[in-house]
Amino acid sequence: METTVNSESPSNLTAPDRNLALELVRVTEAAAIAGGRWVGAGDKNRADGAAVDAMRSFMDTVRMNGTVVIGEGEKDEAPMLFNGEKVGDGSGPDVDVAVDPIDGTRLTAMGYDNALAVFAVAERGSMYDPSAVFYMDKMVVGPEAADFVDLRLPVKQNINLVAKALGKPVEQVTVCVLERPRHEKLVEEIRAAGARVKFIMDGDVAGAIAAARGTGVDMLLGAGGTPEGIVAACAIKATGGMIQGRLAPKDDEEKQKAIDAGHDLDRVLTTDDLVTTDNCYFAATGITHGDLLRGVRYDKDYVHTHSIVMRATSGTVRFVDAEHRVEKWDRWLKG
Ligand code: FBP
Repeated sequence: METTVNSESPSNLTAPDRNLALELVRVTEAAAIAGGRWVGAGDKNRADGAAVDAMRSFMDTVRMNGTVVIGEGEKDEAPMLFNGEKVGDGSGPDVDVAVDPIDGTRLTAMGYDNALAVFAVAERGSMYDPSAVFYMDKMVVGPEAADFVDLRLPVKQNINLVAKALGKPVEQVTVCVLERPRHEKLVEEIRAAGARVKFIMDGDVAGAIAAARGTGVDMLLGAGGTPEGIVAACAIKATGGMIQGRLAPKDDEEKQKAIDAGHDLDRVLTTDDLVTTDNCYFAATGITHGDLLRGVRYDKDYVHTHSIVMRATSGTVRFVDAEHRVEKWDRWLKG
């Protein structure tokens, strides 16, 4: 990896260098603008297809020699950016790329809150290979509780540890959980511990960031996509806090595949296991309105986007409000 491009460290913070995250935000803006056109249209593949096309076109303007290691879409046979696909203009640093053109395709199709376009980049070879198992049990907390909790502990104990770290009563601890039948027992355990549950219908990348930043929720628990866990880890490296994950095979076949590939299914993967470098970047743009970001708004002359960009080495988190002239986006708005 080119050290001159991304070499910010505490000792040379006075020497500004290139922040790849600021280029990445153009990519998520494009995906959100193209995908957002289909909000509420009831067709998640069409929304995803538009976001994928726009993301692919804009990715190739970024000065990086990227390989997609976390593509998206296999689960639903949706349009996808393939694992192994080369992206970027080929001239910059060698990087792993994680894409989620729409995290929350169903949210987008149904017009529900919290759909994001997401893009993360890290030094080549640093992202965990998520191919073995689709789901991962996850726990995300903010920086105050990061050193105390452990996925192997009972739910109640972790909740008590979070309450103690945050200095508030357990009744005020709110846990974000994907609303799924598989989480019935987990939800019972959270409530029995005395804490509250905030359900999300989809989009556990946004849920993980909210838990890490302590915006509205104090913790995220439950099984979600392994790729989304790695993408969230890139963001958490910048915002602080931590994610722990454990592969959760959905059936015996997937379990055997993972064991044959050498995975230890009892292992708790930490933020640093999911992304082994701090040299990583994360960008997301709101598609529909959410706690983290506003959704895309289409006016007669302008399209308005709201994004977050983060860089782990510096820990800088930026919110970007942008106005895009409608005529420049003809292809994506009419196509
Ligand atoms: P998609 O937008 O790709 O469908 O993903 C949405 C999502 O909710 C993720 O945020 C989450 O990790 C995963 O799906 C959970 O999977 P499932 O819907 O199968 O429970």
